[in-house]
Amino acid sequence: MQIFKEKKHLIKYLKTTTKDKSIGFVATMGSLHSGHLSLISTSKSMCCITVCSIFVNPTQFNNSNDYKNYPKDFNNDILLLKNVDCDILYIPQVKDIYEEKIESKKYNLGKIAKNLEGKYRPGHFDGVATVVDKLFDIVNPNIAFFGEKDLQQLQVVKKLVSITNRKIDIVGVKTVRESNGLAKSSRNKLLSKDHIKEASIIFKCLEYCKFNMHLNIKKLKMYIEDQFLQNQKVQLEYIEFVELNTFDKIKEWGGDKTNAVCIAVYINNVRLIDNIIL
Ligand code: PAF
Repeated sequence: MQIFKEKKHLIKYLKTTTKDKSIGFVATMGSLHSGHLSLISTSKSMCCITVCSIFVNPTQFNNSNDYKNYPKDFNNDILLLKNVDCDILYIPQVKDIYEEKIESKKYNLGKIAKNLEGKYRPGHFDGVATVVDKLFDIVNPNIAFFGEKDLQQLQVVKKLVSITNRKIDIVGVKTVRESNGLAKSSRNKLLSKDHIKEASIIFKCLEYCKFNMHLNIKKLKMYIEDQFLQNQKVQLEYIEFVELNTFDKIKEWGGDKTNAVCIAVYINNVRLIDNIIL
């Protein structure tokens, strides 16, 4: 695996060695787990060269403690990437990405970025769009792979590609889960064994919605809210039903579009999100 810390070297390398070869790209913030590795293996199965980036992006955190405490494990990440035969790793410092100004650009992402994560994490999606746009400029991939766990982010990146007129296919990859259903996430490393056990309530609630779609959305939401009131260890931030492509909230079943149910919770001050496509 070739490792680059500076974009100028990566850009030069990609120009000279990847001519006519398709490039697959997996952007990460490191602290890699099997969810990330499944993005890498999907990229490897579809593209000639796979580039992974590890960069904890300061502009997408709306809480400085969350940024400071974000788990980091760069040496282990490199080992994991070598094991799955990733071709190229780009692991820059903040200055290489942002140069003098560490700030987000304002994108016209529209309604898709306003609800749910957009509402509870103001500025988050502008930060994500800023860094992904910069990484796309550097890597210039044919296909980029993003996890369905961050479902709204996946849709926001699709929107970013469309408003910036890029010719990049965005592919969503299925969520990888622990045996109790908890979605794999770098943030799980901040949880104790007991917290991980408690966190099984998240997937149970999502599955309840999937298997009880004969009930109306109001009833489903009331049932879920009640589950969390009975479990003081996990705090519900939101449970919302949305139309998948627009992330518009839906209050009733009935449309012919694909929907999803999305959830955000806190366990011991660690924020976790998850969803199921219905
Ligand atoms: O999903 C993530 O890890 C991040 O939001 C991303 C896409 C790497 C941008 O920093």
